[in-house]
Amino acid sequence: MPLVNLKYLMDRAEAGQYAVGAFNCNNMEIVQAIVEAAEEEEAPVIIQASQGAIKYAGLDFIVSLVKTAADKATIPVCLHLDHGTNFDQVCECIDKGFTSVMYDGSQYSLEENIRVTQMVIKLAHAANVSVEGELGKIGGTEDDVHVDEKDASYTKPEEAKRYVEETGVDALAIAIGTAHGQYKGQPKLRFDILEEIDRLIKTPIVLHGSSGVSDEAIRNAIAHGVRKINIDTNIREAFVRGVHKAIVANPYEIDPRKILGPAKEEMKDIIKEKIRLFGSSGQGKR
Ligand code: G3H
Ligand code: 13P
Ligand code: ZN
Repeated sequence: MPLVNLKYLMDRAEAGQYAVGAFNCNNMEIVQAIVEAAEEEEAPVIIQASQGAIKYAGLDFIVSLVKTAADKATIPVCLHLDHGTNFDQVCECIDKGFTSVMYDGSQYSLEENIRVTQMVIKLAHAANVSVEGELGKIGGTEDDVHVDEKDASYTKPEEAKRYVEETGVDALAIAIGTAHGQYKGQPKLRFDILEEIDRLIKTPIVLHGSSGVSDEAIRNAIAHGVRKINIDTNIREAFVRGVHKAIVANPYEIDPRKILGPAKEEMKDIIKEKIRLFGSSGQGKR
């Protein structure tokens, strides 16, 4: 079916009190793994492209791969720009057929973030494209998780309220202690902040850096308004594990399909596991 926008998926997730998985893609095998896993779980799904993915594969390849996979699928698929930081790139993604974009202005002052997000919303909504905004600082792979636990990095609930009221974003990414990449230990999440944000805003909440977050914490996040959950690292790990296993099992294999095929299956397993955890299995049935 044709791509759907994020708002379509978020409205249904809110009504059903579940979260939709947002999985990062970088190549054909990853796109296929995400759509096949979602199809087998009959789940709605978001496929997202990061700055790194755009540099690696290029926007045109990403759009063609995702549109081709979505056209063949019976479940709803949304194509989303992950961590867009540049207004021109957001415009390009909208022109090329993305159905949702993230504008990550979290490095700016609240006023500047609101100002640019408003510009993005105007343009995106006119094209029926949804917008995810971000407030607070989500840690990066290189960051020490403990440094990120400083209060200054967390989303401030009152600012979240002002930001969603003044921008009208379709989803809001928050910082409650998650970080991108592999965690060194179990992340300590600030559910008190999430609960306060959930109390103050009706906008669906997005959790980034969700690979490595415990199942219990994910369930708790969904119970407090998280409706989009970003997973990248778990897919990278599965891909490399699959490739590694195939090469170890047959060190003289020269057919790439016999290495990438098993890697795809390894990725599908973790994606299906996450979809079940998020409660979105069966929610993509027609
Ligand atoms: O947003 C964070 C993702 O893990 C993307 O990282 O830009 O290296 O693809 P990347
Ligand atoms: P992980 O790589 O930690 O799963 O985070 C993904 C993410 O938040 C993409 O925006
Ligand atoms: Zn992220």
